[in-house]
Amino acid sequence: MSYSAGVDVGSTQTKAVVIDENRNIVARSLLDTGANVVQAAENAFKEAIESQGIREEEVEWVIGTGYGRYRVTFGNDQITEISCHGRGAAHIFPGTRTVVDMGGQDTKAIRVNEKGEIDDFCMNDKCAAGTGRFLGAASAALDIPLNELGTVALKSDRGVRISTTCTVFAESEVLAWLGKGKRVEDILWGVHESIATRSKGLLRRVGIVDEVTFTGGVSRNQAMVKALEDALECKLNVSEECHYMGALGAALFAMDHIQSSRNPMAQEASK
Ligand SMILES: Nc1ncnc2c1ncn2[C@@H]1O[C@H](COP(=O)(O)OP(=O)(O)OP(=O)(O)O)[C@@H](O)[C@H]1O
Ligand SMILES: [Mg+2]
Repeated sequence: MSYSAGVDVGSTQTKAVVIDENRNIVARSLLDTGANVVQAAENAFKEAIESQGIREEEVEWVIGTGYGRYRVTFGNDQITEISCHGRGAAHIFPGTRTVVDMGGQDTKAIRVNEKGEIDDFCMNDKCAAGTGRFLGAASAALDIPLNELGTVALKSDRGVRISTTCTVFAESEVLAWLGKGKRVEDILWGVHESIATRSKGLLRRVGIVDEVTFTGGVSRNQAMVKALEDALECKLNVSEECHYMGALGAALFAMDHIQSSRNPMAQEASK
């Protein structure tokens, strides 16, 4: 059996996915990127293969993606996370035409065609207000772990309107609302709504075409799913795989490489 792997070294978390020749996910891992990016990539890959007893030499081709893709020193190639999230999303949800990837630092809006290839994309550049970083600021201000923010926010029935458009001021605005006696859940729902509104603005720049797939770690946050669905007025594709979508896309590109180098004529004919 031969396998391919994708390693998505994000600014916050590193994800590795191993797939078999039928393009099924056979192993995965997730860990914090931390300060040693090279080590994080290596650890994620090792953790994934060891969890399923796969030997390193059975993994024929490895592609690195994410901001740290050039630090995947054992990788055979690198591909941008835009292409990889698009590819992964189209594989799991074939109807995908728009992808919103929300990670620890950035939000990306991606338009894909029916083959999962990139038609257009856009990312927040300097402003982090529509991103996971904004959640990080709220998490710090309220002393609630990132992965619990969504559960708390969903208890709200009247969200506070967050007016700041800058992450630097988010923490002080959250504290100011607390000081005025607002409930934590209402402040947090307001934070989610504000991120959703900004993300909608970003998505509009590439065009919001159904189906919309939500990828990246923030897709695990149920309040963010709801806030985005409310803002976009449509249902989103979300699944367990969504946090791993970039790594999965990279593994799929790697499998393309393995299969086409083995049988280039057949690949050409199937295009
Ligand atoms: N279980 C969870 N529940 C809620 N949120 C989560 C969970 N796991 C991760 N997250 C959120 O996802 C973020 C990390 O997402 P992801 O791994 O996609 O980021 P990244 O790829 O490192 O960042 P970027 O793409 O911006 O470089 C965390 O900062 C956190 O906000
Ligand atoms: Mg990412």
